[in-house]
Amino acid sequence: MNYRHAFHAGNFADVVKHAVLARILAYLGQKDAAYRVLDTHAGAGIYDLAGAEAQRTGEWEGGIGAVLRAEFTPEVAALLKPWLDVVRAVNPAEAGAQPDESATAGAAPLRHYPGSPLIAQALTRPQDRLLLCETVAGVRESLEDAIGRDGRVKVLPTDAWQALSAYLPPKERRGLVLVDPPFEEPGEFHRMAHGLIEAHKKWPTGIYALWYPIKDVRAVDGFRREIERARLPKVLNIQFDLRAVRQVDALSGCGLMIVNPPFTLADELRQMLGALVRVLATDGTGRVRIGWITAER
Ligand SMILES: C[S@@+](CC[C@H](N)C(=O)[O-])C[C@H]1O[C@@H](n2cnc3c(N)ncnc32)[C@H](O)[C@@H]1O
Repeated sequence: MNYRHAFHAGNFADVVKHAVLARILAYLGQKDAAYRVLDTHAGAGIYDLAGAEAQRTGEWEGGIGAVLRAEFTPEVAALLKPWLDVVRAVNPAEAGAQPDESATAGAAPLRHYPGSPLIAQALTRPQDRLLLCETVAGVRESLEDAIGRDGRVKVLPTDAWQALSAYLPPKERRGLVLVDPPFEEPGEFHRMAHGLIEAHKKWPTGIYALWYPIKDVRAVDGFRREIERARLPKVLNIQFDLRAVRQVDALSGCGLMIVNPPFTLADELRQMLGALVRVLATDGTGRVRIGWITAER
């Protein structure tokens, strides 16, 4: 397995995933009671957009670069704010080399992009806890450096699929499980559906957000059917198509399957992702689909 997220950091798929992640965390933070985040595929935590990998693909330019250049309505700007505040916080004015001077994180040029662990670290409170799993040793070391000293956070070498049974339910009984596999190996959709179904037996009230690529629509349909057959209550499916599917080996969109979404989320995402698709999908074939696999019974 040689997936390296640094090639893709800040691309449209990260934008969608991280903007949604921040909305869920904002909701969880509305009550004082502590909650827990389990990030099963954590990655390196922060990415250098001037680094060789990010520069080679330039994917971030059409993702976070485009978002930072765009103008949004006040309502959409408010929905994006928690996430974009974290992007700004890791790009202080003295950040140095500029991969793209026209994309600025507020006053400062965009140089770094925060991954899901840093977004969760920034948006959680003193009473909350984070478990971050990353199996690749070098990536895990980068993650530990990025997190720094924070007694609320544990970085673990645990395999994601084992973590789903080992660490659930959390003692707080509130929180989010983010599952974001690299989809480099065959069977990842099935592993993810199976992992969710088993985890849900242990912790039926947790919020789960499962990211998936839209390339091969048959694989996506199979995943959806597997979740439908499990008849889990309250599953919202979000599909963000950057363009119409052309080839099964090229990412044309991404999805998030969300179990037990906050009751405000579907409406928020209609607004927020609707605005993002207008900014990110440049060939006129982009669209957002948000629908219930199963609503509350
Ligand atoms: C898509 S990246 C994660 C990106 C991160 N969630 C974010 O949004 O910033 C997937 C990560 O999972 C790691 N990984 C792959 N298989 C894993 C497994 N079975 N358990 C835990 N981590 C795994 C990879 O090394 C990679 O860093």
